[in-house]
Amino acid sequence: MSDAPDLEFAFEAHGSPVPASEREAILANPGFGKVFTDHMAMVRYSADRGWHDAKITPYGPIQMDPATAVLHYAQEIFEGMKAYRLPDGGTALFRPDANARRFNDSARRMAMAELPEGLFLESVRQLVRADKDWIPAIEGGSLYLRPFMFASEVFLGVKPASEYLYLVIASPAGGYFKGGASSISVWASQDYTRAAPGGTGAAKCGGNYAASLIAQAEAIREGCDQVVFLDAAQRSYVEELGGMNLFFVFDDGSMTTPPLGGTILPGITRDSILTLARDAGVSVREEPYTLDQWHADAQSGRLRETFACGTAAVVTPVGTVKGEGFEFGIGNRGPGLLTEQLRTQLVGIQRGEAPDPHGWIERL
Ligand code: COI
Repeated sequence: MSDAPDLEFAFEAHGSPVPASEREAILANPGFGKVFTDHMAMVRYSADRGWHDAKITPYGPIQMDPATAVLHYAQEIFEGMKAYRLPDGGTALFRPDANARRFNDSARRMAMAELPEGLFLESVRQLVRADKDWIPAIEGGSLYLRPFMFASEVFLGVKPASEYLYLVIASPAGGYFKGGASSISVWASQDYTRAAPGGTGAAKCGGNYAASLIAQAEAIREGCDQVVFLDAAQRSYVEELGGMNLFFVFDDGSMTTPPLGGTILPGITRDSILTLARDAGVSVREEPYTLDQWHADAQSGRLRETFACGTAAVVTPVGTVKGEGFEFGIGNRGPGLLTEQLRTQLVGIQRGEAPDPHGWIERL
């Protein structure tokens, strides 16, 4: 797929509707996903015209016919990525090409039109350039970008739609977890699973997240921050959290993470951590790991650290694991050494404060 944008984006200039003093207050404490910037990117697709009508337009509601296909059959995909402010005041994206590729992997699985990678990249670059003043200057601040696409055809037949709407919205972000949690607790769901072999687990589609919500609500009821899903076939292997991948660190300095096999989201943060750990000489395995083994290893002391990772969550230590009739802690229930080392290095690269040996940063 070509990297060159096929279309020019029309730019509908638009002064911010948010007064500067209000914006300042928002950027001092943005939370996650609550406030949106002044513009959004939008491109339309139809089977007869292909991709057309690309624009950067004022952020606002979109009108939808009640029979729009996505409202009925959930043909929808999305991405999560971030723009960062660099020490010299510039702006950068982290591995946007990986998001563009994964977006099309998701599109294929959901029988949707593929978006030329160049168009994906250009939509994100242009939106960030337009709204870069919304990147919070606070520690850990970033501009969270949410590219997404849905079936916009007005039709109730069950078939792949012939019309799609692709948008990118942006939201100033601080930490994902309330109160900037230094470690989280997770609830191992026995009743609900996230993805079965042959299903949509590897696609970033809204349906996967909708299906996770009842289990996440159960986790909250049980006093935990996040749900951890087990495999659908045996309810034995650890897969991932509601929206984050998992890593386990052992007393011999090695690490393991569940393998990608179609039921796990191929996280870009997951891939980056694997690369940074291997660069540092850490022995890393991608292999199945059971909940029972996790419990036993935590109790024997063989397991030293567990952490979750994702674009929104970055790298977050897991301190406590609970399930029906059991609870165990990991290490001192706080951030472990390797978790901290990898988090610091990743964040340093993303923010232009550490060497970027793999060329992951794209300066805008
Ligand atoms: C992300 O990390 O960007 C995601 O898409 C996960 C979502 C739960 C916020």
